[in-house]
Amino acid sequence: MAAGVLIAACRCPRLAPSPPAQREWWHNGPPIPDNERKQHFLSCRFVAKKGFCLGGFLAYECRAFSSNGAAGFGAPPWEHMSHNTFGHLFRVTTWGESHGPALGCVVDGCPPGLSFKLEDLQVWLDKRKPGQSRFVTQRREDDLVKVLSGVMLDADGETMTTTGTPISMLIENTDQRSKDYGEIARQYRPGHADYTYDLKYGIRDYRGGGRSSARETAARVAAGGIARLVVPGVTVRGALVQIGKHKIDRRNWDWDQVGQNPFFSPDAAIVPVWEEYLDGIRKNGSSIGAVIEVIAEGVPAGLGAPIYAKLDQDIASLLMSINAVKGVEIGNGFAAAETSGEDNADEMRMGNDSTPIFLSNNAGGILGGISTGQPVVARFAVKPTSSILTERQSIDAEGKNVDIRTKGRHDPCVGIRAVPIGEAMVACAIADHYLRDRGQTGRLK
Ligand SMILES: Cc1cc2nc3c(=O)[nH]c(=O)nc-3n(C[C@H](O)[C@H](O)[C@H](O)COP(=O)(O)O)c2cc1C
Repeated sequence: MAAGVLIAACRCPRLAPSPPAQREWWHNGPPIPDNERKQHFLSCRFVAKKGFCLGGFLAYECRAFSSNGAAGFGAPPWEHMSHNTFGHLFRVTTWGESHGPALGCVVDGCPPGLSFKLEDLQVWLDKRKPGQSRFVTQRREDDLVKVLSGVMLDADGETMTTTGTPISMLIENTDQRSKDYGEIARQYRPGHADYTYDLKYGIRDYRGGGRSSARETAARVAAGGIARLVVPGVTVRGALVQIGKHKIDRRNWDWDQVGQNPFFSPDAAIVPVWEEYLDGIRKNGSSIGAVIEVIAEGVPAGLGAPIYAKLDQDIASLLMSINAVKGVEIGNGFAAAETSGEDNADEMRMGNDSTPIFLSNNAGGILGGISTGQPVVARFAVKPTSSILTERQSIDAEGKNVDIRTKGRHDPCVGIRAVPIGEAMVACAIADHYLRDRGQTGRLK
């Protein structure tokens, strides 16, 4: 294993307590006795610390993955093994589950001296919170965010100024209804994370899906609120552009409309169509997918790096990390495959103020992984909600065939509330790259 490449993850499924059925899936060997488990655990830690090749541990089915990105340069190899952190300099760790008492995040690396009020964060959480129309889950949560650390409160009692220390934020869960999930405690909803969580961890918080629930995304939206403060002059806005087969008419795009309807649609004309369509979907106990577009304007030219830190790569990664996201496009995206070189090239001319002008933006504001100064345009597709009332075939934890109807309060189209989440992820990616660019080039953009 090359020097300087850190071992970032060490997976030892044999160490996890697991029901016999899963133990069988993971490996065919007998269970490891307790004293051996302890020894094995210590050995793994030793190996991770020393960065040795793990070949000798194959006997224990202990695998290591090298990574030059996830752990961050110089980070101890086990530091981010649990994968709840993203970002390099603007670093966000989220915590919490759907039916726990609270969830939240820690934003580390935020520069000092940025001032904001709680309402500047709450406005984004209010966009994402459930129960705001009949087209989203009826779970009632106020999603009031508290800032616990990393700021100094001004004399006005409202304005907070970042101190450069970790900003911890908390959002309480107040409307859990765990009994709704009793039936799926031992059954796997097809299309949800139930099966893979059990397979991997051998234990699953079935109440609301635990960590696989999009409740976790409230914390990301809070982090996105802080990210928006980092880069001067950047505006990140999102809109829903497609539900099922019904697309907006892009000629009607009006940002002012986005806040005027329950879908975050920029096209007023599509709203009644979507209303009728989604009412039908809901009444049939079904669900449907959607496409969201996020546009960041005012992004300085020069953010990003050519290969392993492309701005588009990191935006795609963060958007893909949102629950239910199955596709991401930057700029023209998949349509570029049908476009000729002449049409796709974003031609350039010199502007009057000696700065270049691009005659189009098929690249979505990013060339060679580096921002051009044009708007950064990203789209992502979410799949239809897997928890539906229509009966579907599946299996249970004992390996028996079952038929499942998922009750409880679910979003019939998760794309609606995904709009502010997508905005938050793009804002975090841009803030992180802004700080990284400043660190590398020393320039203030
Ligand atoms: C805003 C939002 C709300 C969601 N609400 C639900 C829901 O009510 N019911 C559900 O089954 N899945 C919901 N999901 C999707 C699941 O969290 C997701 O499908 C699950 O974690 C499995 O992950 P995957 O789809 O990324 O593979 C939601 C996703 C988002 C982004």
